[in-house]
Amino acid sequence: MRQEEIWNTDVAHGYDTPGTGMFAPEVLEPTVDRLAELAEGGPALEFAIGTGRVAVPLARRGVPVTGVEMSQPMVDRLRTKVDEATIPVVAGDMATARAPGTFQLVYLVYNTISNLLTQDEQVACFRNAARHLAPGGRFVIELWVPELRKLPPGQQAVVGGESGTGHFVLDAYDVLRQHVVSHHFWFGDGEETRMFRSPHRYIWPTELDLMARLAGFRLESRHADWHGAEFTAESRSHVSVYRRGEKGPDQLGG
Ligand SMILES: C[S@@+](CC[C@H](N)C(=O)[O-])C[C@H]1O[C@@H](n2cnc3c(N)ncnc32)[C@H](O)[C@@H]1O
Repeated sequence: MRQEEIWNTDVAHGYDTPGTGMFAPEVLEPTVDRLAELAEGGPALEFAIGTGRVAVPLARRGVPVTGVEMSQPMVDRLRTKVDEATIPVVAGDMATARAPGTFQLVYLVYNTISNLLTQDEQVACFRNAARHLAPGGRFVIELWVPELRKLPPGQQAVVGGESGTGHFVLDAYDVLRQHVVSHHFWFGDGEETRMFRSPHRYIWPTELDLMARLAGFRLESRHADWHGAEFTAESRSHVSVYRRGEKGPDQLGG
């Protein structure tokens, strides 16, 4: 299934959940606070900007934001909130699309680097981030830690979800290809059921750091969340901040 088919009109319409889930103030405010701090007042570029969950409040903070996004229905939702002059968006693939200008900060949140399904595309995404930054500029990634410890030998799927919400997740693994397909199910009170499925290539933090090095970045910090909690062996997610070196990706070769 291609990303354009996944992020279709129905998904785009149901994406925003104002005030709850990923749109809850306790999730969004620390995200925006930290990104504004890391941008140091300079312009920011969001890869896979979606409906502007993060970009809209970040722009309201006074940080100029541009986006790259491949789904037109997601951009259409963004356009119900802000116009093109406030948040310009380049239509295309974050591994290759070029937005005009040089940025202080490029960010890619909510696990979205894993939507690129090959290692080559993920490395290309790092290189593309570096191309948009001056030396010293930052690339911030929010990504989950693969939960392979939940997968005993011989088992191919793990079931999770939040108790009492009617939301269940079935993660089906292909460990040879380093892929996981997440199937989300929502069960209503009656017979109503909704399903959303998305394929991912999962990445260990250390592999992510190696991709960064290939593109001329070094790791500046890694925390378990946007508040700056310590990243430990038990952390389920991380916010990693990379800084671009003097040499851009096109001067590094490889
Ligand atoms: C989980 S949503 C995240 C949206 C937004 N960043 C947020 O935090 O709410 C993933 C988004 O990534 C976009 N996307 C997936 N692969 C992409 C790619 N290769 N290039 C650009 N956008 C992509 C999808 O269209 C979708 O809007």
